[in-house]
Parts: sequence; C-alpha cells; structure tokens
Amino acid sequence: MSTQPFMPNLPGAIADKAVRLGLMEEIRTLARRRNAIILAHNYQWPDVQDIADFTGDSLGLSLEAQNTDAEFIVFCGVHFMAESAKILNPDKKVLLPNLSAGCSLADSISPESLSEWMSRYPDHTVVTYVNSTAEVKAMSDICCTSANAISIVKSLTNNKILFTPDRNLGNWVKKHVPEKEIVVYDGACPTHDVLRGANVSKTRSAYPDAVVIAHPECREDIIALADEVCSTSAMINRIEKYPDARTFIVATESGIVHQMKKRFPDRQFVLADGCIGCRLHCPYMKMISLDDVKRSLSETKFEITVEPEILASARVALDRMLAVPRDN
Ligand code: 13P
Repeated sequence: MSTQPFMPNLPGAIADKAVRLGLMEEIRTLARRRNAIILAHNYQWPDVQDIADFTGDSLGLSLEAQNTDAEFIVFCGVHFMAESAKILNPDKKVLLPNLSAGCSLADSISPESLSEWMSRYPDHTVVTYVNSTAEVKAMSDICCTSANAISIVKSLTNNKILFTPDRNLGNWVKKHVPEKEIVVYDGACPTHDVLRGANVSKTRSAYPDAVVIAHPECREDIIALADEVCSTSAMINRIEKYPDARTFIVATESGIVHQMKKRFPDRQFVLADGCIGCRLHCPYMKMISLDDVKRSLSETKFEITVEPEILASARVALDRMLAVPRDN
C-alpha cells in the first residue's frame, strides 16, 4: 500500500519546482513589505503551509491571530477561521485568499435552527464549536475547539449543555464528561463523517503494529479503535509519545501529513481511509492556492468583515473560550 496521500489536481499543486519556489519567495517578500502575518491551518496544501509564519489547529491559530502586531492577517484556512481572527482583531485587516473557502459543518447550523434548538432546551448552556458562523457564535454562551472542548464543558457551572453543531465531537465530549446532561446537535463534517470503522480496520490489517491517531470529528466506531484522539496540532505532537512506533494511521484530512512528515521524517504515515486519502480530502481547505495568496497580498483584497453588533456578541463567546486552558 502506498503512503502517498491522494492529491487531486487542484490549483494548489504547482508541478514545476522552480516556479513554485519563486512564487513562494515572492509571497514572503510581499508579506514583509505589507507587514502581514500568514497563518495556515494544518489541512492546507503543503506549499501554502510552507509560506506561513505559523501553522496550527484552530485554537493555536486563534491565539496567534490575537497576539500579532502585524497590520494584515492573511488566513489560509476556511471562512469561519478567518472570521474568528477578525472577531479577535476588529482593528486589523483579515484576508481570506479565496472567499469561497467555506465549511459544510459550519453551514449545518443556521441562526434559525439554533434558535429552534434553544427554544427546546431553554435551561441549557450553549457550547458552540468554532466551526460555525459569527451569527451562530453570537447566539452562543461559549465557543470551543477540538483542543479544549472537554475542558470547556467541564468548566461550566450549569450541568445542562446544548452542544452544537458537530455530533461526533459532541458525543466524544459526552463520553468524557458523563456527569453532565449534554444534548448534541445533529451536524457533521462530511470529510470525517464519511470514514467508517471498517475502513480503518482494513487499513490497520495492512499495518498491524501501527498507532491509530484520530480527530474527534470522526464517528464513534473510529474513536473506539483509535489509540489517540485529539486536535490536529495535538495529533502531530502525540507522535512523540511513541518513539518505537514506525507507522501511524491518520484519521483526519490529508493535509496534516505534511507537518507530520516534516517533524518526523523517519516515520511512516498512512491515511486511514484505505483508498489513499481520496475520502480524507476537504475541498474547501484545498481552495487556497499560492496564486490566491499572492493576489490577496499584492492587492490587499478578499477582506473578511463582520457586523459590529454580531462581532461584539461573538467576541464574548470566543473570549470566554480563550480563558480556559487547552485539553491537549
Ligand atoms: P482543529 O481545530 O483540530 O485543527 O480542527 C479544525 C477542523 O476544522 C477539523 O475539521
């Protein structure tokens, strides 16, 4: 079985190495000239990750966005991530190099559907995963990411929780916080939710000694057979815990393998889907190309804006989240 992730021929991949390196150098020069910081999520194309000042998970990137003195934040991720950076930095210009980079999970909950759920559970504290729009965050009591969801729910005084929108993450939290009554909304990330325990078991049968590392957006049957379940940055860090393991089966979006190989070049990483990453490919995360980043920086366009009233309420939910330490 090949260890190379399947990479469809989307605009992020520039075959000619000299052209690619030249473009990357141009982007770095432009970023310096514009006083811009480039943030890239662990799922971005490898080249896009390599031009970033910081790569990381949603929580790590939110913290970088909050700490920067740069005038521009170029966010290579999806819309809700850039929107969170804007909410945390209302006075900075936040650019998303391709404004079509959305998120199916964020779209699975609207202000109207949340309002309907809230009316059904009026005594519950609303915990909303950051994979949601600013409007939904603004209606929530507190946000969470995959890196702090358990600590966030444990930190709340109310024992009645409405967890939105990801059902797999919600069920994982529920298992770790049995003392609370947690009602879970019925949303999911299609990239993770398409994976089944049978796919992972089949992949594992080819690598019986491999360590299985999964993201909590995976379904319960995968969580049950994983050795580690954590946020994308923690998935990379956890490899250190297994100095004798040669092979790791990775149950999340394929872009993460780039950082894993960079940090641990002597290990083997196999995507969990048994079809060499073709299912573990988020089309939105792969929408940003090097050309998009260059254009966004040189023309300072594709700016994220949030209505002031929505921003102020969403900020409360994000600030409450940032006050709680990460799980992992
Ligand atoms: P992380 O916060 O773990 O990076 O996950 C973000 C995400 O969108 C997973 O699908």
